[in-house]
Amino acid sequence: MTLFRLDSSIRTEGSVSREVADTLERAYLDQHPTDTVVRRDLRIDPVPADAWPDAALAGFTPEDQRTDAQRAAVELAARLADEVAGADAVVVATPLYNFGVSQHLKTWIDMLVTDPRFAPGTSPLAGRPVTLVIARGGGYGEGTPRAGWDHATGWIVRMLADVWGGDVTVVEAELTLAETVPAMAELRPLAIQVRAAAHEHAETVGRDMARSVAEALTRVA
Ligand SMILES: Cc1cc2nc3c(=O)[nH]c(=O)nc-3n(C[C@H](O)[C@H](O)[C@H](O)COP(=O)(O)O)c2cc1C
Repeated sequence: MTLFRLDSSIRTEGSVSREVADTLERAYLDQHPTDTVVRRDLRIDPVPADAWPDAALAGFTPEDQRTDAQRAAVELAARLADEVAGADAVVVATPLYNFGVSQHLKTWIDMLVTDPRFAPGTSPLAGRPVTLVIARGGGYGEGTPRAGWDHATGWIVRMLADVWGGDVTVVEAELTLAETVPAMAELRPLAIQVRAAAHEHAETVGRDMARSVAEALTRVA
């Protein structure tokens, strides 16, 4: 069985989304130690932003009239799609940047959508557990000044669940900037609690994902 993990934080050190996803991955692998983990790290290996226009326009161009750039972009999209299509469980870890989706993650999703297997209406993740781990510097709970300002989570879940059909769980870690931003100093005790709760949630979700993958295997056997 295969777990696919995507990271998109621009930090390779001190990244909360990566740490929480690590906790989830450990909990998953505790149950499924022999599973393969396929990783894509969009910080280390970003999808070139200029590949997407070529991949998208290739879809409207007869194959024999495609440019070399369009052909290369279609092949890249297919390789990205292979990684996810072959997975039994999926983890997408990301920060909230500028109240929206990380551009690296947006490009990755846009590229996948150009592959016929991930086009709207195909549900390639149907029946598979998918977890979004999102880290946010501020707080976005109901009643806070920034409630409704997280424009990333809703869209990513829309794509993973409603477009691609995954069985999606969201693990959230917020107030991550409280540690370093002086204006948030009074929120530090709360931030510590929130971080611990995120790791706890990730551990439970990792175990649940492993169980769900095992159940799917039993149904097939
Ligand atoms: C360029 C940039 C933009 C950010 N924009 C936001 C934002 O709009 N809202 C927010 O709550 N936090 C924002 N943050 C803070 C990150 O969401 C926070 O540090 C998060 O923990 C980053 O994920 P990571 O810990 O996995 O690197 C931003 C951070 C950076 C570097």
